[in-house]
Amino acid sequence: MANGDRLVLALGGAGTVGSGLVKALLDRGFKVAVISRDSNKLEKLKAFVSPATKGNLTTLVGNVGSEEGAEEAKQALLRSVGKVTDVVSSLGFSWWQGGPPHTQSLKELHWVIETLLFSTFVSWKAFFPLVRDDPNCTYTFITGGAGEKLLMPGTGFLTVGAASTLAFCQVLREEYPEVPCKLNQVKINTGVASPERMAPGYLNHVDLGEAVATLVERRNTSHTVFTINSPSDLKTVILEGNL
Ligand SMILES: NC(=O)c1ccc[n+]([C@@H]2O[C@H](COP(=O)([O-])OP(=O)(O)OC[C@H]3O[C@@H](n4cnc5c(N)ncnc54)[C@H](OP(=O)(O)O)[C@@H]3O)[C@@H](O)[C@H]2O)c1
Repeated sequence: MANGDRLVLALGGAGTVGSGLVKALLDRGFKVAVISRDSNKLEKLKAFVSPATKGNLTTLVGNVGSEEGAEEAKQALLRSVGKVTDVVSSLGFSWWQGGPPHTQSLKELHWVIETLLFSTFVSWKAFFPLVRDDPNCTYTFITGGAGEKLLMPGTGFLTVGAASTLAFCQVLREEYPEVPCKLNQVKINTGVASPERMAPGYLNHVDLGEAVATLVERRNTSHTVFTINSPSDLKTVILEGNL
């Protein structure tokens, strides 16, 4: 199937990681759909992608983080694009450094888990059935790491949230070992930013997007975790297929 016949749903596609991916996918000829709660973010995304590819981008306002919202968004998406062949999920937030646990509230922990884990679970439950039974389809999670690099003063809840998403992805690999759809995870142990916000060791979000677009395009691995510790890993781990 040519890229132009494939429709990638980018969950979190209006975010930092997602926008780099959306641009890269469009540049490779994929059709792409993005659902966001915020129409302003969708307008910014349209202005960010290569102008010649804009016609292949479908945007919808919706909330994939609630069960009702995800179901509604799914129906609207299917009415608009017909068939989804691939899903990439990069839901969550870029950074959290709210302080050590004794200074935090349960509300704050709930927000972290809701943003990183609940949205990932709820949207997976709604959208995975669209691709699950087809070996030509893919579902890819983009997650952060949990532990060493993240554990610095004040980032405890970020580690708790990231660990919960990692555990969820592991559970899916174990619970669905033989699912025909290619189910993969890209785990990023460093920062990701747009060129204006880069810091040493960070990944440019479009470079990351290009690597993930390659993975989606190739469809030759499943139940695999690609761990990215630094920009050079994009080439060695994903583009050259060294695990
Ligand atoms: N940025 C980094 O430095 C970095 C590094 C390593 C790993 N990661 C991982 O990459 C993922 C995305 O990070 P990012 O930097 O792209 O974050 P971001 O810019 O905040 O974007 C996250 C996206 O997730 C969506 N989202 C968040 N909570 C939601 C909810 N409750 N319901 C529905 N949608 C929700 C947002 O959708 P709306 O458009 O609707 O607001 C947003 O577009 C995270 O899992 C993060 O752990 C990021």
